[in-house]
Amino acid sequence: MDALLSELTAIAGAEHALTDPDLVAGYTTDWTRRFSGRARCVVRPGDAGQVAAVLQACGRHGAPVVPQGGNTGLVGGGVPGPAGGVVLSTRRLRRLDPVDTLSGQVTAGAGVTIAELREHAARAGLEYGVDLAARDSATVGGTIATNAGGIQTIRYGPTRAQLLGLEAVLADGSVISRLGGIQADNTGYDLAGLLAGSEGTLGVITAARLRLWPAAPPTLTVLAGVPGIEAAAALQAEIRSLLPGVRAAEYFEAPGLALVREHTGLPAPLGREYPAYLLVDAAASEIEAERIVVLAPVQDAAVAMDAQARSGLWAYRERHTESISAAGIPHKLDVALPLTRLAAFRAELDELIAKADARAIVFGHIGAGNLHVNVLGPAPDDDSVDDAVLRLAAGHGGTISAEHGIGRAKAAVLHVSRSGAEIKAMRAVKSAFDPAGLLNPGVLFLP
Ligand code: FAD
Ligand code: MLT
Ligand code: ZN
Repeated sequence: MDALLSELTAIAGAEHALTDPDLVAGYTTDWTRRFSGRARCVVRPGDAGQVAAVLQACGRHGAPVVPQGGNTGLVGGGVPGPAGGVVLSTRRLRRLDPVDTLSGQVTAGAGVTIAELREHAARAGLEYGVDLAARDSATVGGTIATNAGGIQTIRYGPTRAQLLGLEAVLADGSVISRLGGIQADNTGYDLAGLLAGSEGTLGVITAARLRLWPAAPPTLTVLAGVPGIEAAAALQAEIRSLLPGVRAAEYFEAPGLALVREHTGLPAPLGREYPAYLLVDAAASEIEAERIVVLAPVQDAAVAMDAQARSGLWAYRERHTESISAAGIPHKLDVALPLTRLAAFRAELDELIAKADARAIVFGHIGAGNLHVNVLGPAPDDDSVDDAVLRLAAGHGGTISAEHGIGRAKAAVLHVSRSGAEIKAMRAVKSAFDPAGLLNPGVLFLP
């Protein structure tokens, strides 16, 4: 056995230092199947002390470390790159403290899934603000590391907005811990905020103190057909001006719906087909709901007010990701634009995709201006379409990553959304936290 492996085995136990190819395989290829690499070993530490010992051992042996939570990330940041490395899985960090109902807060381990956290909060009559279709696998640590958005961002903000403090292990093995949940705390740099969105490059998050919200369950879901993206953007704005409790405003198009129906066997959602669809979720009284159902574009809409019917409508949106992956290995491009630029971007995107002899499935969180452009056709290692789509978004005043992060997928084009001065400052932060470049080399920045 090599010396590093025997140290990792001594730290986490033989059953949590994996080298068997069958056991390791699930940790070395990402959810999209576009990114994979070789792992020297997968180690699953059981607490922050073991995480610290793992990082120190890997540091001594010069072995890069790839932190990984639920491995649902979509930019290749949670699996090893060409340099290989040790995958540090956080799935055993499963602390879940009782909900503090006085402050509306909870402390959760990095390996707790978002579904588990949401159920835990709901049992106390509260709600965790982040929700996403990957809820059964995506973890607290992974969603903080990517600053995940999701379907409720327009109401509660992204993951960073839920974060009151965290515990993390830095590359040298030192542990920073701020789990007290004091909201008024201006004592220097906000390290928790900095680790949010750091994609495993600055430290390994082991636990977090999270804000919870008074539960305001959605009671109304509307799925309306619209002529296109401009109409969808206008309709969501109109509905949001009429209903104070809108929590999601989601978008998809006819080609995505066709793939979902082909993959899932679901029936058509409306009496006729439309070029595009808007899905809105709101906590609304019956009187408020009546204001919506009289709007012209909602005349032929599906309206659901009980949980089962609502989740039936949500399936058309939430099952896009798996249905697209069933059709091929997608190039997943997650952009956000000012709402005023969506229509122009969308039209130019069609021209670009036609030239590339590819097809694009577009859907996303339209309320936040966030579109998921999924390109099928180009080979997984051909980045030319990715590059063109991201530059198109930037040209319209948009960003090349709305919620998925930069990962390995977009490290080469970070400069499209960030200035030279910003990248220099970010690299200085990286060197201060991780001078030897132990954590996730090749993620966020090119090596
Ligand atoms: P992983 O995939 O394991 O890792 C992601 C990144 O975080 C990697 O860079 C990894 O190194 C780092 N990391 C993981 N854990 C830690 C830790 N404890 N400490 C430090 N770094 C760590 N994303 C959205 O934002 N919104 C959505 O609506 C959304 N929907 C999705 C739906 C589906 C069906 C799928 C498959 C994915 C979706 N995603 C979405 C993407 C993904 O779920 C998120 O990026 C999520 O935050 C990843 O969490 P994870 O635990 O799986 O992290
Ligand atoms: C979603 O909004 O469903 C996700 O971000 C997943 C995806 O982009 O495929
Ligand atoms: Zn999304």
